Amino acid sequence: MLKTKKNIDWSSLSFGYVKTDFRYVSNYKDGKWDEGYLSRDSEITISESAGVLQYAQTCFEGLKAYTTVDGNVVCFRPDLNAKRMADSCRRLEMPVFPEEKFVEAISQVVKANIEWVPPYGSGATLYLRPYMFGSSAVIGVKPAEEYQFRIFATPVGPYFKGGVKPITLRVPDFDRAAPRGTGHVKAGLNYAMSLHAIVDAHNQGYNENMYLDSATRTKVEETGGANIIFITDDNKVVTPKSDTILPSITRRSLMYVAQKYLGLETEERPVFVDELKEFKECALCGTAAVLSPVGEIVNHGEHILFDKENMGEITKKLYDTLLGIQMGEIEPPEGWIKVIEQ
Ligand code: PLP
Ligand code: COI
Repeated sequence: MLKTKKNIDWSSLSFGYVKTDFRYVSNYKDGKWDEGYLSRDSEITISESAGVLQYAQTCFEGLKAYTTVDGNVVCFRPDLNAKRMADSCRRLEMPVFPEEKFVEAISQVVKANIEWVPPYGSGATLYLRPYMFGSSAVIGVKPAEEYQFRIFATPVGPYFKGGVKPITLRVPDFDRAAPRGTGHVKAGLNYAMSLHAIVDAHNQGYNENMYLDSATRTKVEETGGANIIFITDDNKVVTPKSDTILPSITRRSLMYVAQKYLGLETEERPVFVDELKEFKECALCGTAAVLSPVGEIVNHGEHILFDKENMGEITKKLYDTLLGIQMGEIEPPEGWIKVIEQ
């Protein structure tokens, strides 16, 4: 049976939280995960001394469900989110939520909220937020014994206001991740410590921070919520290689698309701040950011300029191909698209 869609002006949605009907909940107790269930309750009650509240023991993921050109509802590479969340859990001494169960739970949440999946062509998507937190009381610094894993869904529009209009980054005096720290996993604490830097960047008129490696402050890392790609004069796609950035699924997919669909050379290597002015295009990539063109990078008085009005030519090709794959208009590589049975 074809379910009707919610009565929403999809094209005017921004990247914000909208409460939807169902979320998935599973609890970890006595060393094991329970069966898990869908809940209508968006509120959570936990101990005042829960591990998440006292010592930020939490990690999360982000992925999207799309309506494709032929009316299917699909998710993009949810198996990679499952795996990355398992990596985050191991680093934060949290129990891994089984990867296959994670993908199955994603399907359940999308199916239960099918009326919230924006229609094809609306520019909006259903953002899925899997997350886990220490729910039992701790007071000495140690991992909690009980955990909750949840997934909620919220319909979203573009992460940056203005959609694909090029944004401005600044190189901040704050660092995002320490060598041998947690920059490579999706720990809530990485985002807590970036909040002051993002508020400060916004107050000064910048859209985002472009963080440097904190050991030498000579190399480009990523922004608070996305990886970065650069295009050279001879159309090579370059992305920073570092142990302290999040392994973006979008970035890994784009590098594959660049090579296999567009015949472009790609390089994952250290990118030095000094060479920024040699690139002809720059863009942020991530689930929320998709592929957002960068028009300018400001590094303490130095202005590095790209096209400030339009997405660069190679960035646009990458964008069109990736979106084409996600929206069912272009044949995907095997295993990239998970169709949600309705
Ligand atoms: N880097 C950071 C810090 C992020 O928060 C995100 C968002 O998930 C990304 C990169 C992009 O990763 P992905 O493409 O897997 O969404
Ligand atoms: C995502 O792209 O899914 C993110 O998690 C980035 C940001 C919203 C935190």
